[in-house]
Amino acid sequence: MRDAVACASMHASSFAKPWPALEFERLLASAPVAGDGLWKRDILTGFILSRHAAGEGEILTIAVDPANRGRGAAGALLRHHMSRLAGLGIAELFLEVDEANTAALSLYKRHGFGKVAERSGYYTLPDGRRATALVMRCAL
Ligand SMILES: CC(C)(COP(=O)(O)OP(=O)(O)OC[C@H]1O[C@@H](n2cnc3c(N)ncnc32)[C@H](O)[C@@H]1OP(=O)(O)O)[C@@H](O)C(=O)NCCC(=O)NCCS
Repeated sequence: MRDAVACASMHASSFAKPWPALEFERLLASAPVAGDGLWKRDILTGFILSRHAAGEGEILTIAVDPANRGRGAAGALLRHHMSRLAGLGIAELFLEVDEANTAALSLYKRHGFGKVAERSGYYTLPDGRRATALVMRCAL
């Protein structure tokens, strides 16, 4: 539960629609879900969660504490996670990202993800506007 609360707290400082701690507790206890975290002296500074099945994985969420962004933390987390998933026999990794999320797009492109589809109006922003999601894929 401690990890779930830490993830929920960071998720709330990173996304407009926070996921509750109970949702993280459920995900962390679920066998097809893999998670990795970065900790500094017992404080969570970043985490990534993905779900996998039949040789395919999907990144569910990734976030870095706002005070630690722009220093390569997400890159290190993603590289570690991708290598762990490859070791589990996952051949392809997918994700969805808001096309306006420049930091996340740089991160994913740098790590080998390419666009495979666009979902127009997929996200509803806090001000009610709709945003396009890009579906990206990377072979592990
Ligand atoms: C996306 C996120 C995880 C990146 O974390 P980070 O630790 O700052 O990322 P890194 O320092 O490893 O940098 C990754 C890339 O993003 C770029 N980047 C980082 N901050 C940026 C910013 N504010 N604007 C533009 N690019 C940025 C870096 O230059 C780097 O690209 P490069 O390798 O081509 O130079 C972080 O911004 C975050 O938690 N955002 C909120 C949650 C979110 O949007 N998650 C992704 C949902 S799909």
